[in-house]
Amino acid sequence: MRTQVAIIGAGPAGLLLSRLLALQGVDSVVLENRSRGYVEARIRAGILEQHTVDTLTDAGLGDRLHREGMEHRGIYLQHPGTRHKLDFPELCGRTVWVYGQTEVTKDLVKAQLDGGPPLLFEVSDVTLEDVDSDTPRVRFTDADGVAQVLDCDVIAGTDGFHGVSRPVVQAAGGRTWERTYPYAWLGILADAAPATDELIYAWHPEGFALYSMRSPSVSRLYLQVDPAERIEDWSDDRIWENLSRRFALDGWEISTGPVTEKSILPMRSFVSTPMRRGRLFLAGDAAHIVPPTGAKGLNLAVADVTLLAQALVRLLTEKQADLADTYSDRALARVWRCTHFSWSMTSMLHTSGDDFDAQLQLAQLQRICSSETAARELAENYTGLPVG
Ligand code: FAD
Ligand code: DHB
Repeated sequence: MRTQVAIIGAGPAGLLLSRLLALQGVDSVVLENRSRGYVEARIRAGILEQHTVDTLTDAGLGDRLHREGMEHRGIYLQHPGTRHKLDFPELCGRTVWVYGQTEVTKDLVKAQLDGGPPLLFEVSDVTLEDVDSDTPRVRFTDADGVAQVLDCDVIAGTDGFHGVSRPVVQAAGGRTWERTYPYAWLGILADAAPATDELIYAWHPEGFALYSMRSPSVSRLYLQVDPAERIEDWSDDRIWENLSRRFALDGWEISTGPVTEKSILPMRSFVSTPMRRGRLFLAGDAAHIVPPTGAKGLNLAVADVTLLAQALVRLLTEKQADLADTYSDRALARVWRCTHFSWSMTSMLHTSGDDFDAQLQLAQLQRICSSETAARELAENYTGLPVG
């Protein structure tokens, strides 16, 4: 087999990269080790920045997003007794959209299988070879158990945090930065109409809580818990009681309903540099992880592949290496900005049991709720800084 770009991993980064390249006449093959059903059902992010919506729309993937997605014009920041709205259009002229990563993935897979470039599910033993030459290749075993070789000009490592691509880059020298946080998120999906028009980020002495949603009838809620907690110890009643306490506000009530999914997510910041070795380029979670507070993970993956698609089109079509040579530095500038924002949102909202830290957090929340300058800084980062 031969293609121009071998793409490892059919998450949002790999699938969107394949689509953006196809629109510019560059062919690719996407290799995914999981099944289509597994990839489409994985429940993850839910908030799309303005640039992500624009990128998907321009790539012809906006129909269902605009029909079923919900445009949000702000968020609430809460601490006991106060729920304050930040109005994004007023503060920075942008909005965000609620549209689940599951839906983005389904739209991308459908477009790919509807006459797009090849997408092979359930491959195994993916190995990258000769990435320092202009003729790299990928060996893998296909879903029928047959050994295959894919020759290519470039490999895109979009295989997430546990993939095979990042170790190949790091083997030639590089550096990683990591911070693990002393808290985790317990997330639930519930068949309950959201009791709020915008997301609520709530600081509470017992821990952070986030009220999000997926549709007018499905709520997505998160509770800060200790990373050592086991999901079996959290009955639905216990979860709802904790959520009700942390979101409590006079005259307002949470709306409950059957819980359809629940899990505990660890939280870490991680950056791996550089994002390139020879003809192997990393994008998305393969190169970096942010804690979920602030909803940057998926959006950062989309920003990376927007830059990478431009660089690869220029390299393979116009035979100019300038954008490919600067890809890692340009992508990392945005990665570090989002790493800082996600860390600052996480640090401001999660409690550690230290009373001094709690007073600093409340002082910062009050600053954002009373100063247009401080509020605008949050709004600009939350809705997404320009790509490029
Ligand atoms: P992924 O979505 O991880 O895709 C990588 C793909 O590569 C996967 O399909 C994987 O199966 C495949 N793969 C891996 N190894 C191989 C291999 N060897 N060969 C072939 N294929 C391979 N972000 C937010 O903003 N908000 C959230 O609420 C949020 N919640 C999250 C919850 C969880 C449990 C996780 C894990 C992440 C969450 N994120 C969230 C982050 C966000 O989902 C990711 O940033 C986003 O999925 C990144 O996309 P990606 O395509 O880079 O990686
Ligand atoms: C969601 C996740 C986030 O991390 C966030 O900041 C907002 C919303 C969500 O899953 O809906």
